[in-house]
Amino acid sequence: MLKNLLVLGIESSCDETGVALVQVPVDSCEKPKLLADALYSQIEMHQAYGGVVPELASRDHIRRVLPLARKVLADSGRALSEVDVVAFTRGPGLAGALLVGAGVACALGAALSKPVLGVHHLEGHLLSPFLSADPPQFPFVALLVSGGHTQLMRVEGVGRYEILGETIDDAAGEAFDKSAKLLGIDYPGGAALSKLAEQGDGAAFKLPRPLLHSGNLDFSFAGLKTAVLTQVKKVALTQTVPVEDWPAQLRADLAASTQAAIVEVLVKKSLTALKLTGLKRMVVAGGVGANQLLRQQLNTLCAQQGVRVHYPELHLCTDNGAMIAMAAAMRLQAGVQQANLDYSFEVKPRWPLDTLMV
Ligand code: KG4
Ligand code: ZN
Repeated sequence: MLKNLLVLGIESSCDETGVALVQVPVDSCEKPKLLADALYSQIEMHQAYGGVVPELASRDHIRRVLPLARKVLADSGRALSEVDVVAFTRGPGLAGALLVGAGVACALGAALSKPVLGVHHLEGHLLSPFLSADPPQFPFVALLVSGGHTQLMRVEGVGRYEILGETIDDAAGEAFDKSAKLLGIDYPGGAALSKLAEQGDGAAFKLPRPLLHSGNLDFSFAGLKTAVLTQVKKVALTQTVPVEDWPAQLRADLAASTQAAIVEVLVKKSLTALKLTGLKRMVVAGGVGANQLLRQQLNTLCAQQGVRVHYPELHLCTDNGAMIAMAAAMRLQAGVQQANLDYSFEVKPRWPLDTLMV
């Protein structure tokens, strides 16, 4: 009798160790199902240094990955011997960190005599909304907004990704994080900046909307960070205390103005991409996809145009093992890739998503 396939996913590309177990139904009409997932975030460890320290990240992944795998198996009530495929993040990301996940995945595969499959991290983000209660259908426009990437894509199916535009310098998440740092918020400040912004006025400070009228779908956020720095320096002249101790309203206004600038560019370019492609469906994925202002504005404007927007569940917006298991499951289910029994591995710290095209 045919049985469902169990895929164990391991994510270790940056500062989060994620492990998850996804069940892929034999019947390709049914949806893959997340049985359990576990995550360990290293953020606190890196905060002391103001950013991710690659060597510390690799060492911590080594400490966390097997306990997390044991937890996932225990939570799902499955035995390691029941796992059919071991998936891992092959790239892009920090080389040392990726090697930990790849090494563990291949060692597990070899020990169990089960095949392994290396997954593209951004494909994981891109397909993560398929784990939500309201999954999308192909084709759609995707806005991929993470700490390292900002891309608009036309997605026709698994492995069929056309990049429509991307950032020419900083990513949207980087713009959030660098601006947050200027406001005295710890790394990675995106979520905290947006929380602070809730009490602020987005029009209080005039900030640029880079490339808003460029006529193409590319982004640029480096200049925005410089503009925030200029405003912070200007305000500092009027204050006698460090930025952390400035009046709450002032910091909230700066945060809200920064957020408004980033979100406006992301939303307007997304609407242009929808118009150019004529597609009526959109997917937003990656850490910045958790931003509530971005979600509100996209939902409102897209609804007016009859466009449906899909997001990952909030806890699956940032890095996790579930999206890696899911991407592997969907690649297997779509028949675009096979898992293999060759346990020699290499990682790809730099790996453009469109080279995955099938
Ligand atoms: O996708 P992700 O976990 O990691 C990468 O693959 O890069 O994204 C992390 C990024 C960070 O820059 C973080 O500040 C940002 O996502 N982020 C947010 C929010 N939550 C996470 N940015 C804005 N608003 C949020 N609510
Ligand atoms: Zn990511």
